[in-house]
Amino acid sequence: MRDEYIDLIDLSDYSTVWWEDIVVLAHEIMQHPERYTQRCAGKIMATLFYEPSTRTQMSFQAAMLRLGGSLIGFDNPSTSSVAKGENIKDTTKIVSTYGDILVMRHPSPGAVKAAAISAECPVINAGDGGHLHPTQTLTDLLTLYETKGKLSGLTIGMCGDLKNGRTVHSLIKAMSCMPDNRFVLISTKELELPQYIKKILDEHHAEYREEERLEDAIADLDVLYMTRIQRERFASQQQYLEQKDVYVLDEEKMKKARKDLVVLHPLPRVDEITIGVDDDPRAMYFKQANCGMYVRMALILLILEKSLKPAPLFKGEVRSDIKCSNEKCITNTEKYLPHYFVIKDGQAVCEYCDETTEIEKTL
Ligand code: CP
Repeated sequence: MRDEYIDLIDLSDYSTVWWEDIVVLAHEIMQHPERYTQRCAGKIMATLFYEPSTRTQMSFQAAMLRLGGSLIGFDNPSTSSVAKGENIKDTTKIVSTYGDILVMRHPSPGAVKAAAISAECPVINAGDGGHLHPTQTLTDLLTLYETKGKLSGLTIGMCGDLKNGRTVHSLIKAMSCMPDNRFVLISTKELELPQYIKKILDEHHAEYREEERLEDAIADLDVLYMTRIQRERFASQQQYLEQKDVYVLDEEKMKKARKDLVVLHPLPRVDEITIGVDDDPRAMYFKQANCGMYVRMALILLILEKSLKPAPLFKGEVRSDIKCSNEKCITNTEKYLPHYFVIKDGQAVCEYCDETTEIEKTL
């Protein structure tokens, strides 16, 4: 029964207590991996990657193999029947009957939630366009737990492509739920944080300020989260080139930072952190990538061993008369999908991509 499956589409669907449970279990697995080698024996994970990945895909695969399970899937949709025009519904419906847990990455916001509607096993969001990346956030939480020893009371600088960086959106959503975290949003005007994420900061009364220069902010930070300018999300190459090298963390800038700064980056890196920074003991991004495997082991265990109450996929209503204003939203390409919105104050918030549509404009 679909209602019984524990999906992970958005971390906000679950309590912060559960996030901490995952982090603590991941820490325990890291200390004693030998205790977990057969916990998923006989189980199959399906990984459907419609978009390139190194860390997320391979850390999920390594996690399942280290738990004694097996793998099926594709990492290039052009070698699957997606190339023949198969829709998400049919692919997911079938593959989810072959596996016990399905991990999916897709370029369109909301696509993984769309897949979960028809899946016959739990579904994990491994990144949906520029929207969310909840397992990267769990990775980031574990890394902060391992390096800072806490998830609250931190001044966190987010630097780079705050508009398109799904890891940024997911992490801000999560860390704004923890007490006394403050955010410094370092970006150009063109790549500033979307309004709907700023609204979440306001709702949680999380303090934040915006800066355009990394040099002006770095000395204040406990954590610096660098991000890549997301070339694949730009409308033109020219727009990408205008943003590409604006933020580069180098050894000079590191001299201005605190001795206990933690530098994170979800990776892949392009030019935004120079190679010279890698040897600085404050550079934690390679450790962070390693944490990703352990946190995914913990996540797989908690989902397959059903130690959580499932969250409903939708809370709002179907409104086929409203079109989501986000052109990239999966509902605008997979037309058969039911249009779920949360309606409030004349606005419709899409339950796939979280964008707000003014109802008057769409009717
Ligand atoms: N951090 C991250 O999602 O990396 P990949 O794109 O390599 O999976």
